[in-house]
Amino acid sequence: GDVAVLVPAAGAGVRLGPGAPKALRPLAGEPLLVHAVRRIVAAPSVHTVVVAAPVTDVPFVRELLAPVAPVTVVPGGAQRQDSVAAALAAVPDGPGIILVHDAARALVPADLVESVAAAVRAGHDAVIPVLPVVDTVKEVSVDGTVEVVRGTVDRSVLRAVQTPQGFRRSVLAAAHAGAVDPLTDDAGLVEKQGVPVVCVPGSEYALKITRPFDLALAERLLAESP
Ligand code: CTP
Ligand code: MG
Repeated sequence: GDVAVLVPAAGAGVRLGPGAPKALRPLAGEPLLVHAVRRIVAAPSVHTVVVAAPVTDVPFVRELLAPVAPVTVVPGGAQRQDSVAAALAAVPDGPGIILVHDAARALVPADLVESVAAAVRAGHDAVIPVLPVVDTVKEVSVDGTVEVVRGTVDRSVLRAVQTPQGFRRSVLAAAHAGAVDPLTDDAGLVEKQGVPVVCVPGSEYALKITRPFDLALAERLLAESP
């Protein structure tokens, strides 16, 4: 394998409601992070996995993942971007392709990991999985006590973005080294460097578990997920 996968898993999960950090919440009895790592290592290209865990849970996460796969666990940071940077710093020499995958996308198909890696290997410096936007999207502004529609956005040119996002190693390293404002995804940093970002088809199974509804949906999808 020529691929290292960074797994940011250090978030609190505020939108999921009170409880453990999101990556450690159970889905069918096992933490989201365990599901995510198992699917990542099922992709044949994956050589190295580095998890950024909640600072106080690093020893626990090491024990949790030891029976699943050989992974490196590092303490995450205050923002997602800090967690990705900490994981990136722990990647050994070797892998030329780096993928970044949210632990919260616990049902990611191994095929999607493989297809993102393949697109980087084929020569694209930055690759993201995307889905079409299905809802009509409005731009609004607040007028007194109500939101008022300012316009309707052309949905046909919009895409919802998932992970894993894939990068040539030097491109991701340069983007993180040059980062100023924190962003919610790594491709955003790469875009700011003027590097073209290429889209590949995403998967509905790679949904991000954000709110309680998403966790309930993932529980239902688990048995049939690829
Ligand atoms: N993440 C991280 N370090 C942070 C914040 C987020 O590693 N400081 C990770 C999360 O663990 C998650 C991924 O980034 O796997 C995507 O973030 P998100 O879905 O926003 O998760 P949380 O930040 O945990 O959720 P919330 O924003 O609701 O608190
Ligand atoms: Mg968050």
